[in-house]
Amino acid sequence: MPPAPEDPPAELPARPDLSDPTAKAVAPVGDRRAGGSAEVPPGPPASGAGGGGGTGALLDAILQTKSELFRGSREVLRDSYVPARLPHREEEIRKVVEILGPALRGDLPSNLLIYGKIGTGKTAVVAQVRHDIERRVGASSRLGFLTINCANLDTSYSLLQTIGNTFAASDGDRIPTGWSLDRVQAAMVRILDARKATTILVLDEIDRLVARSGDNVLYTLSQLNTELENSRLSLVGISNDLKFTNQLDARVRSRLNEEKIVFQPYNASELQDILRDRAREAFNGDVVDPGVVERCAAYAALENGDARRALALLRLSAEMAERDHAKRITPDHVVKAKNRLEQDIVVECCRTLPPHCKVLLYAILQLYERRRNGVLTGEVYDSYRRLAERLGLQPLHARSISNYVSELETLGLIRATIVSRGRGGRTREILVDVPISETIPALEEDALLAPVARPRNRGQLLLTNFDNPNRTGPV
Ligand SMILES: Nc1ncnc2c1ncn2[C@@H]1O[C@H](COP(=O)(O)OP(=O)(O)OP(=O)(O)O)[C@@H](O)[C@H]1O
Ligand SMILES: [Mg+2]
Repeated sequence: MPPAPEDPPAELPARPDLSDPTAKAVAPVGDRRAGGSAEVPPGPPASGAGGGGGTGALLDAILQTKSELFRGSREVLRDSYVPARLPHREEEIRKVVEILGPALRGDLPSNLLIYGKIGTGKTAVVAQVRHDIERRVGASSRLGFLTINCANLDTSYSLLQTIGNTFAASDGDRIPTGWSLDRVQAAMVRILDARKATTILVLDEIDRLVARSGDNVLYTLSQLNTELENSRLSLVGISNDLKFTNQLDARVRSRLNEEKIVFQPYNASELQDILRDRAREAFNGDVVDPGVVERCAAYAALENGDARRALALLRLSAEMAERDHAKRITPDHVVKAKNRLEQDIVVECCRTLPPHCKVLLYAILQLYERRRNGVLTGEVYDSYRRLAERLGLQPLHARSISNYVSELETLGLIRATIVSRGRGGRTREILVDVPISETIPALEEDALLAPVARPRNRGQLLLTNFDNPNRTGPV
């Protein structure tokens, strides 16, 4: 029986942002990948040619349909695409160029920290400046960039190893896994020094690195120039946590903070300009109705001025229009897209909960589904306990579960209100704030909950799946 933690972990995952979590790599600036106007939605393979009856025929139809809305690749609306122009970031680009540009004439740029909320263009701006500098220096230059997204790294060990292996001159120089941290570090310094070049190391989402493995590695990197004889290193850190430097040792903080730029969130009219540029690139002639861009921008402006969300809304609006076989994207498609996006965020949020919290939410949703009315914490706890036992988990104490109820409330998935039960007794009544018909199946798909999942109607499963062709498995 797997051991159960007695207390919930200190932190629950924040509500995920809208980005496609797998689309973190940044495509070259202005990389307008041609072709493919009819994308095949990812999903389970069709069983044979035209197999699976309706499934095969439907997939064939999708393959043969040329999109009338998109004029080229729909990648243009994806997060990984960096457009040639970044409206309303001219000032930020100028500052980054002023700081990093001197590297072109052989000077060592100051270390730089870039802060700003999610979707404010930090990664895109740095990618664009990098591209412009690289275009001028050519491949054999003594100046090079390395961009690492720290969200994809588990430890500082893997950061040092990645740096070393990126610049290893031959396979024999590569740093294998298994060496001690000191040895990896020494090898990395040797490899970097052998380059006889200046490297601008961009650590995107640097706060994640510090949260996972502390600031020792940043201390090491920020004083590397004292160890390097023939090469030099400059650091650019990007973070959407404005307070992350508070966790740093004072010396590391002052070394990294030689220069600092803060990106402000976009307002609705700035987001409109960004979307119009992108719509021109993505869509055929005049398929976007008046009001579409404005609505996408307004929704995203309310959500912290996040350009990623604005673009996701526009992309999804187009997909909604395609599903309706419409020739134009209308403001109604934006409303549908917004609802879909909110559901997707909720489902994603549920998927990333810690195990006991997932079981608890599942218990709440099942009770609520039956009752369609508020459920009391006592019955929720009983139901949670029964489910946990059926799953072979040691149920957590009521106090821990009560903490989880509060956490689920903080995430906006449920609402809990105190109700009086006579004779001075008080309890909490829980109301559900998520779409049950989406969230229960999403939780049941989870390996943890699969053993207690109720069998579902196959027809329903297929229908739901086609409703969202972006999803890879049954919904
Ligand atoms: N000024 C802009 N013009 C055009 N597109 C933009 C602009 N700003 C951001 N974008 C687009 O919005 C999306 C999010 O931008 P980016 O990834 O640079 O945000 P970020 O600040 O790095 O966010 P996070 O903190 O979540 O990593 C990307 O697809 C990017 O191309
Ligand atoms: Mg970023």
